[in-house]
Amino acid sequence: MRTRVAIIGAGPAGLLLSQLLHNRGIDSVLLEARGREYCEQRQRAGMLEQATVDVLREAGAADRLEREGLVHHGIHLRFAGENRHIDFPSRTGGRSVTVYGQTEIVKDLIAKRLDEGARLYFDAPVTAIEGIDGDAPRVRFVRDGVEETLDCDFVAGCDGFHGVSRPAIPADVLRTYERTYPFAWLGVLADVAPSTDDLIYAYSERGFALHSMRSARVSRLYLQVDPDADLADWPDERIWAELRERLALPGWTLDEGPISDRGITPMRSFVAEPMSFGRLFLAGDAAHIVPPTGAKGLNLAMADVRVLADAFGRWFESGAREGLDAYSETCLRRVWRAEHFSYWMTTLLHHDSGASAFDRRAQVAHLRYVADSAAAMDSLAENYVGYTWAQ
Ligand code: FAD
Ligand code: PHB
Repeated sequence: MRTRVAIIGAGPAGLLLSQLLHNRGIDSVLLEARGREYCEQRQRAGMLEQATVDVLREAGAADRLEREGLVHHGIHLRFAGENRHIDFPSRTGGRSVTVYGQTEIVKDLIAKRLDEGARLYFDAPVTAIEGIDGDAPRVRFVRDGVEETLDCDFVAGCDGFHGVSRPAIPADVLRTYERTYPFAWLGVLADVAPSTDDLIYAYSERGFALHSMRSARVSRLYLQVDPDADLADWPDERIWAELRERLALPGWTLDEGPISDRGITPMRSFVAEPMSFGRLFLAGDAAHIVPPTGAKGLNLAMADVRVLADAFGRWFESGAREGLDAYSETCLRRVWRAEHFSYWMTTLLHHDSGASAFDRRAQVAHLRYVADSAAAMDSLAENYVGYTWAQ
């Protein structure tokens, strides 16, 4: 088999790249280790920056997003029995964010790609990537128990944190930067109307909680838990009781409903540099991970892919390689801004039982400042909607 761009991984990054390349007339083959159903059911992120909505619209994959996405003009910060709303449009020159599940983006892109006759193969794990330091890379994968090869001009590693692409970059070239946190998130999907208009980020001495949503009838809620927490220790009763306590506000009640999905996500900050080597280009979680508190993971993946599709476009249209050469540096600038913001939101809002009494008091003072100072709210808002450099 042969193609221009071999794309590894049918998460949001790989799917969007395949779509953007197709729209420019560039052939690709997309190889995904898991089955279609698994990819379409995996519950993950939900908060989209305007730039993410824009790139999906440009790709022609935003019809349902435009009908069903929930536009939000701010977030609530809740702590010490107080609730402060931070308005985005008035602080960011009119920008907002949109709630639309990552699973829905994945479903929309898979349907569109298959409709257009894409070579998108599920249950086809990539086992090796060869020749990326030359001009004729080759990808080995398994389909129906048989090993096959895919020859290509470029490889796009969109295979997430545990994929095979990043390790294909020689160890003496790759630098990694990492931070772990003493918490994880327990996330649930519940069949109940959200009890809030905008998302609530709540700090409490029992730990962080987040009230998000997926639609007018479905809520998405998260609780800070220990990194080694076991779902078996979290029956529904305990989840709702803990959410009630952590989100508590006088005069406000949390509506409860049946839980349809649950999972525990570890928290990590991670960056790999450079994001490309020879003919291999990493995008999304394959290159970087953020803790979910800043809602940046999915948005970074989409931003990488937009830059990469442009760079491939210029190469295949005119042989210009500047875009490909600049890819890693261009992306890393945005990535590191988001890494800092996600780390900052995480340490601001989580309860670290190992922290000193001094650190805790300083944290609450910081929270009060963020919820009170116009300058601090401006900064949070401009980062949350997606910081863009003035140039
Ligand atoms: P992925 O979505 O991970 O897609 C990678 C794909 O590559 C997968 O389908 C995988 O099966 C495939 N793959 C892996 N290895 C191979 C191989 N060898 N061959 C072929 N295919 C392969 N972000 C938030 O902002 N908020 C959240 O609440 C949130 N929750 C999350 C929960 C979990 C459990 C995880 C893992 C991430 C979460 N994120 C969240 C982050 C966000 O979902 C990711 O940033 C986003 O999925 C990145 O997209 P991606 O396409 O780069 O990678
Ligand atoms: C979500 O809706 O899944 C979500 C929203 C905001 C976050 C993280 C997750 O910061």
